[in-house]
Order: sequence, then structure tokens, then C-alpha cells
Amino acid sequence: MCGIVGYVGSNEAIDFLIGGLHRLEYRGYDSAGVATITAARQLVLARSVGRIENLEARLVETPTTGTIGIGHTRWATHGSPTLANAHPHLGGRGTVAVVHNGVIENFQSLRTKLESEGYKFSSATDTEVIAHLIDSCLAKQPATPRRSAATGYEALVDAVQAALVQLQGTYGLAILFRDHPEVMLAARRGSPLIVGVGDGEHFIASDTSPLAGRTGKIVFLADHELAVVTADSLRVVHRDQGHIVHSIQELDLDAGDVELEGYAHYMLKEIFEQPESVANAMRGRLDLDAATAKLGGLNLTPRQLHHVERILMTACGTSWHAALVAKYQIETLARMPVDVDYASELRYRNPPLDRNTLLFAITQSGETADTLASLREIKRKGHPTLSICNVVGSTIANEADGGVYLHAGPEIGVASTKAFTSQCIVTSLLALYFGRLHHLSFEGGMRIIEQLQDLPDRVREALDSNDAVRKIAQKYADCNNFLYLGRQYNFPTALEGALKLKEISYIHAEGYPAAEMKHGPIALVDKNTPSVFIVPHGFVYDKVMANMQEIKARGGPIIAITGPGDTEAAALADDVIEVPEVEDFVQPIVSIVPLQLLAYHIAVARGCDVDKPRNLAKSVTVE
Ligand code: M6R
Repeated sequence: MCGIVGYVGSNEAIDFLIGGLHRLEYRGYDSAGVATITAARQLVLARSVGRIENLEARLVETPTTGTIGIGHTRWATHGSPTLANAHPHLGGRGTVAVVHNGVIENFQSLRTKLESEGYKFSSATDTEVIAHLIDSCLAKQPATPRRSAATGYEALVDAVQAALVQLQGTYGLAILFRDHPEVMLAARRGSPLIVGVGDGEHFIASDTSPLAGRTGKIVFLADHELAVVTADSLRVVHRDQGHIVHSIQELDLDAGDVELEGYAHYMLKEIFEQPESVANAMRGRLDLDAATAKLGGLNLTPRQLHHVERILMTACGTSWHAALVAKYQIETLARMPVDVDYASELRYRNPPLDRNTLLFAITQSGETADTLASLREIKRKGHPTLSICNVVGSTIANEADGGVYLHAGPEIGVASTKAFTSQCIVTSLLALYFGRLHHLSFEGGMRIIEQLQDLPDRVREALDSNDAVRKIAQKYADCNNFLYLGRQYNFPTALEGALKLKEISYIHAEGYPAAEMKHGPIALVDKNTPSVFIVPHGFVYDKVMANMQEIKARGGPIIAITGPGDTEAAALADDVIEVPEVEDFVQPIVSIVPLQLLAYHIAVARGCDVDKPRNLAKSVTVE
């Protein structure tokens, strides 16, 4: 969703701001804007609706200068995507500029109060309320601030803190003050913010991607922290603890990680990165001596984990599909019950939980609002909570008691691809670990390890289907409905394949357990509705083949994802994509690859904007 950037240093701020906003485009947005303070101490805004290119065109007409500035991509929540609602927003009489991620729930009552104080509003946003509120708090300060501004901008900090305590909801904020053109404030509650530490310059960003290639040193702000940032100094103040010592961490990200590197789209690049990302998810985590997995970040002893009787997994979207794969894996290999709940449901469902229940929150971004709320709710009830997360230092990774990182590298395409396969690797490792804690033999553990070690190569082979998939995609690109059908481990694969297609090509697609289709969806089958069957060799092969016959009998076209050399399936299907043979528990990791490619090529054939699909945001930080 919305993205924030900020710069203070000796260079023109606009260069970092525009470059950074481009790097944040993947999050989804519908307007963009920047504010800088010029050498003549003017606070100037440039905003536009639509793509950042529109903003750049506006800046060509009216260039903006200044060595301090903030920028924003907005994904509309309060107020439609208009110029007036685009960020930054000004407070007072243009003395304060604010960019904001998150949602202020009590903005209406604050707005009414500020209007009664004489403030005039020019937008429908909750953010403009923050800008005026800060101005109002500044105006209400005693004539002599607590200490001289020169010691650390206490007057500004006090005013912003006084405004923040009045806000209900979530925020990541970057704030400029026209009369203090050398300092920028950044504050967060619930929306991530990172400060990049450079040489005589500082950067602010809502995730690490704008910082790649700019600095290798970063400071993650935590909730209720406020950063006071000048070119040469960074100070962090906590709402309750006052000034705190911040820790600088290494940013393990090259500019190449966030660039296309010759690929037409990030989604395609990320699909092709999977042999490596899959290997990274298990690197150093296979214990060949004990035939188990080593997961150092769980922060629970083997004895504590041995007492876990039930696992609850919560997630949204693609991560929820990975949780479903985990259910099949852990129940089969470790014989432990696993419940899977949509985070948006779990957060209000108040389910009765057994005492020895362990929660896993699965999330690529680590910022998904519903997943975070569910984690907090289950943690509050006293259960241990762990995360399976890609973004290091994200809110969910920080708030969980422990967890496992995916190490998939930045995922920029809105459609999640490599995060899914990495999540399925991590859940395989969990199944192995819990299996070995309970009944699984050394030999059984080793068989699982061998399968996992083979996977990067199997995924590489699955990618060889790219050309064949492109041709199939062109054949079916005009269809308006698709069914995706699979059973057991490949039921989640079917759901994920369908989600990929609908997200980026806007085609209606439904994933179903193959046998369930005759209880309703089979009514949709006709010659224009292809069914994509995931039917590799495995223990439900014959059953899925029978379901394929049922579709064939009704004249529906069939695209079959099969094991190598499967002539029986090929005889029934109109089109066949072969994937390598692997054991059932890792089958989704190879079977999803051609489905990702199919969605990609269909979307390209239909002229869709693959990396920025309409209405979607990469990281869903609102409820
Ligand atoms: O960052 P998360 O994994 O928590 O995100 C969850 C969903 O929003 C996400 O998987 C979404 O469904 C993707 N766009 C799917 O491609």
C-alpha cells in the first residue's frame, strides 16, 4: 500500500525521492507527490494523480529544488484518488508538510475540533488532520520551549508527540517544518519506517527497497518511536522512555535485487529466481547427523516444542495457501493436528484453543494488518506465537516470539511467487522437525531431507516448461473463466494457481478440490471454460484422472500438469505441461511453477500490467 520516502543531506532531495518512489511502486498506489524545502525556505509541493511518470512530467514543467524532502505514493483509503487527496499534505499556513501511511480512525472528530479552531481543509484525507494537528500543537507550545531547539529540536518533538497521542489508528509519518529546513521527523505506530544512515545524509523509507544501493546501514523504527533526522545526526525518542540508543543494522540488499536485470517484469524475474530462493530457504537448516531440521529462530526448546499438541496457522492470500500446504505436510509427516484460519476471520472469531496450541503467522511482508491482529490476539491469550516471514525486521517478525525467515530476497511483483515456494520449504522443514520430535524415524527423516535437497534442481526443470506454457497461454488468453482442480497436497496448488490468474489477468478463476467440483462448479464447464488439472503421479492420481474424465465428458477443455511421460493423462487432456516427479509433500513447490508462468503469460497476452495489477497492493496494511 502507500509508500514513504524522505531525504536530508547535501544532494538534491528530488533524485532520491523519485528513485525511491519508483522502487515503492510495487506496493500499489493511485497518486504520488513530493515536498521539498528550497534554499529560500519555501515549502513546495508537487503532486499528481496516477503513475509516478505523471509526477515526473509535472516536475519537468516546474522543477523543485532543496536538499531536504519527503515523498509518497498513495493507495486511497479516505477520499478518492484525486490531486487534492494526494500526499504530502500541508498543515497550518503551509508551515508543516506530512506524508502518512496507515489509517487514523478518529480523524473525523479531530477534524471537527480543528475546524472549530479555524483550520481549513482542502482534502478528504485523514492525513491532512495530522498536518493541522501538528501545527496546532506547535502553536499551543509555551513561548520558551522546554530546551533550546539547538539541543535537539525539543519544541518540534514535543509538538509532534502531543499530536500523536491524540491519534487513534496506525501511522508511519515523515514530517517537514518550513521554519526548520534542516530537520525531518519520522514516527511510526503500526506502519513500518526505516531510516537509512549515509555519509552526511539520511534517508527515510517505508521499506528497504529505496535504500538499496544508497546505504548499507539502516535503523528500523519500532512502534511509538520518533526519529529526529538531520544530514549529520539521528536521534530516536520513544513515547514512554524518552531518548533511546538506536541500533544500526546491515542492509543485505544490492541495487540489483530490486531491479529488473533484463526481465520484462518483476514477477517473471521472481518466478525464475525460485531455484535459488528455494535453496536459500533451506540453507543451513538441514541437520544430516540427526536427520532433522535446524530452526534456530523458534526460540522454544525441543522440550517446549514437544509439548505442543496442536498448531494453528493464520495468514492471508497466497500465504494462506502455503498454510494449507503446511496442514497436509505436518499432519501427514508429524501426525500433529493443524488448523488453518484466514487471519481476517481469526482476529474476531475467538476460537476455543487447547492449552498447548502454537500459532504460526505466515506472511511475506510481515506487515499484513489482519495477520498482525490475529498474532496479537493469540499472543494476548498466552499462546506462543511464531512467524514465517520474508521481510527481516518487519512488524510481525518483531512481535512474534520467534520464527523462521524465508530469505527469498525482496519480492516486488504484487503477485506472490517465490515467497510461496519458500514458505512451502519452511513448512516442510517444520513437518520434518516436528516429525522427528515425535514418531518419524531417522530413515524417514533422511528421505525427506533427500527430497528437499533435490528440489532446487526440480524447480529448475519445471521452469523449462516456460516456452510451452507461453504457447498454451496464447491459446487460452481470451477465455473468461477457468477452473483449477487438484486433490490433497495439490488442492492448495489449485487455489494458488487460480489466485495468480485472477490477480494479474482479471480472469475469473476458481480453485477447487477436484472431486468437490461435481457438487456445483461442474455446472460451469463448457467449451470456453478450461479446467487446469494438477495431476502428477502420486497417491491420488487415479482419483484425479477420474475427475478429468468427468470434465472431458462434458466438453470442457483440459490443461493438465502431469508427471513426466504420462501418456494416460496426455490422451485425455487438450494440453499438457510436464513437471518433474517428486514426493507428494513437496509436489506443490514444483507444480505451482507452470501455473505461475501460465498466469503470467496470459496476463501479458491480454495486455495487463503484470507487476501493478489494478486495485491491488503488495502489502495490505489496512483491515
Ligand atoms: O505479505 P503477506 O504474505 O502477509 O500478504 C498476504 C496477501 O496479501 C498476499 O499473499 C496476496 O494475496 C498476494 N497478492 C498474492 O499474490
